This record gives sequence, structure tokens and C-alpha cells, in this order.
Amino acid sequence: MKTTIKQIGKFVDKEVKLGAWLANKRSSGKIAFLQLRDGTGFIQGVVVKAEVGEEKFQQVKDLTQESSLYVTGVVKADDRAPSGFELTVNDIEIIHQAEDYPITPKEHGTEFLMDHRHLWLRSKKQHAIMRIRNEIIRATYEFFNEEGFVKVDPPILTGSSAEGTTNLFHTKYFDEDAYLSQSGQLYMEAAAMALGKVFSFGPTFRAEKSKTRRHLIEFWMIEPEMAFTDHEESLELQENYVSYVIQSALKNCKQELQALERDTAQLEKIKAPFPRISYDDAITFLQKEGYEITWGEDFGAPHETAIAESHDMPVFITNYPKDIKAFYMKPHPEREDVVLCADLIAPEGYGEIIGGSQRIDDEELLKQRFDEHSLSADAYQWYLDLRKYGSVPHSGFGLGLERTVAWISGIEHVRETIPFPRLLNRLYP
Ligand code: 4AD
Ligand code: MG
Repeated sequence: MKTTIKQIGKFVDKEVKLGAWLANKRSSGKIAFLQLRDGTGFIQGVVVKAEVGEEKFQQVKDLTQESSLYVTGVVKADDRAPSGFELTVNDIEIIHQAEDYPITPKEHGTEFLMDHRHLWLRSKKQHAIMRIRNEIIRATYEFFNEEGFVKVDPPILTGSSAEGTTNLFHTKYFDEDAYLSQSGQLYMEAAAMALGKVFSFGPTFRAEKSKTRRHLIEFWMIEPEMAFTDHEESLELQENYVSYVIQSALKNCKQELQALERDTAQLEKIKAPFPRISYDDAITFLQKEGYEITWGEDFGAPHETAIAESHDMPVFITNYPKDIKAFYMKPHPEREDVVLCADLIAPEGYGEIIGGSQRIDDEELLKQRFDEHSLSADAYQWYLDLRKYGSVPHSGFGLGLERTVAWISGIEHVRETIPFPRLLNRLYP
């Protein structure tokens, strides 16, 4: 019976056939232990010379790392194995004997591994991270579908900017100028006016010259947008969504989290509601902690980490000064100088994972903001239209997938959370 490593538990004491690659091997004169992987998982295959014969055993001993094989054997339950099973090999068919594989089980430097990202993805650690990424995406679709949201796909080639003009990727669109999307938000606002509750999931691009553990040039964002929804209601949805994703990963990625040696106790306690602190109070707190920061300045990574460390949950920082936030945020009803927004800061130093706000729904105020931010009214005419025809209070947010994967996986740097990271100075492979 042909099967996969993930399904192998259904065939205890039966013979199965697997397509697999050789991740690693150890052998003596009479027995060889093969670490096999097939993309669904890892399992040890045991080859005994007396069982397979002299010639086959020699072929197995000569196998190189990453050679591809069809392996036939009997499945044995084994409590000591991470997968819970082992394979007693009866026969091996060599599909392709691999050339000398550059990534050996010894330690390699980051740049070397990044140059070999197309191969590095095969490692146990990267395999676990990619599966956790997939689970977050799966749980996201499940959550928003259950909440009655419609998935809408905003364009990637756009004629205007959504998040400020300093880090736009410029390209030509025949004779016109175009930019790669920094955020689908403005289009999602239009979609919310058509469909009520919508979410997008897609790549976004920022030509940021930042070389930090939290920044990618190309990253993926989940952007929900809701009509007839105020800032407070949006915060509740955000905390429920993040809790749902964490609980789904804990339930469905046990082996992967174990392979990454993630301290899951840190994740188990993540449950809505999340603590909230206003920007004003955050500044006061930081000043008391000895940071040199004054009201009106944006937070850097050390500030966010200090605020997060005083809680063991993600924290919402609310109501930032209007001058350090995007043009579309609605002012606080009682204060001109701050806006109805929040950033969600993950624990353990993973930084901001969500940015969200209630949007300006008044046409005149939005026009005023275009002027203040020197944005051309022509390019945003369609966006202004949304405030002319049945304008309603509406809110939304964007969750950065890679920072969320890094947090859940317990991975230091976002470069390992996306299959082919685009970083400052890296477009290969
Ligand atoms: O806070 P940001 O810039 O918010 C927006 O783009 C809004 N338009 C979203 C919305 O309301 N629909 O970005 C949202 C999130 C951040 O909190 C962060 O998690 C992630 O996107 N992010 C990045 N992730 C990796 N690399 C970068 N360079 C990122 N920039 C933002
Ligand atoms: Mg932000």
C-alpha cells in the first residue's frame, strides 16, 4: 500500500511503500538507520543486511544525502520515535542518487543557508515552520468564514499609496506610473461597502531600508475590513482572531512546535481579552522606566519590547498621536491630537503584529487630510466616493503573517518564516 509518513500510523504491522528522500543515515556492518522524509514528516527506516541481502545492503550504505527512494517496509509502533513509528525496511528502489549535498547535518552560517534557501527548506526546522505558517493561514480562513466574512482580493499593482509615500516600489504601467501595493486596505474599504465584512490575504511590498529581525521587503498581510463597526468592536474581533489562531496552532501543530523546541506554555495562556494601554500611558510608563522618549515620538523596537515585557499577553497600544499615523485614521471624538487606532504588540519581543484603526468617514475631513499629506485628490477620487454614497462608520486592521509565524514558532528572525524571503540586498534565490 502506497502511503505517506503522516498517514503511516494507520498501517501498524502492515507493509507500506513510501516515496522519500534520505535526510541522514548511520550504518554499521550489519544494520543501517535511514532518516527518511517525504514532505509530510520524518521517520526512521531500519535496514538489516541479513534481510535485504549483501548487494542491496551495499547500495544502501553508498546512498548519498537527499537521494530519492521508494522504500517498502513494515510499520512498527515505537514510543521513543518522535513520529511514534519506525519502518522495518524490506526493499529499497533508488530513484535518483543525489550529488554531494551542500547542506550537511553540521552547522552552517546564515548567509550560506540563505543562498541555499531552495534546499534549506527541506530541513526539519524549516519544514516545521512552513507547516505552522500553513496552519495559521488555514485557521485564518476558517475563523473569518465562520464570522461571516467574504474573502476579497485587492489589486497588487496600484496607482496610489496606502501607507505613506516614502517606501513605495515604483514600476511602469505602460505609460503610467504604478506602485506595488503596500496594503490592500483602501480597496478593502470599498469592498466592505459592497459586502459588509471582508478580508484579504495577499503579498504587500515596502521598500524599507530596514535591516531588522522584523522587516521583510515583501510580506503577506491579512486585512479584514468591517462596515458599521467602531474601533472598540474591531479590537474585540482582533483579540478573538489572534486567540483562535494560537489555539489552532497548538492543537494542530504539536509535532512541529516540538521539533522547534517551542515553549508552548507561553502560547497556551494567550486568550482574549488582551490588555490595553493608551499611547499616553505607554509614554509615561517608558519615561518611568528610564527611556528618553517624549510625547509625539513613535516607538522603536526596544520601547515595544519594554511594554510587552510588562504583560504576558499581547498588548494593544491605543490612540496614537495623529501626526505619526496614516492619513485615513479617524480622530478621537474628544481629542483632536490622537486617533482611534491600536497596534497589537506580541509578547517575547516579537513586536507589532497588527496595525488597525477606525477610518475617517467624513468627506470634508478626508479632503483636509489629503492636503495635509500632499496626496493628489485625483488619485484618491474613488476613495473619496466611499464617503459620498452612504458613508458609514467602519474599521479594519492588518495582521503581518510573518511576524505572527515567528512568534508562534519561536523563531528569532522573520527571514525563516516565508519560503523565499525578500530582504534588503537579497533577491536570490
Ligand atoms: O501597521 P501597518 O503598516 O498597517 C497597514 O498597512 C494597514 N493599512 C492595515 C489595515 O488597517 N488594513 O502593517 C500591518 C502589519 C504590521 O503590524 C506588521 O505585522 C506587518 O503588517 N508589517 C510587516 N511585516 C514584515 N515586514 C515589514 N516590513 C512589515 N511592515 C508591516
Ligand atoms: Mg504599523
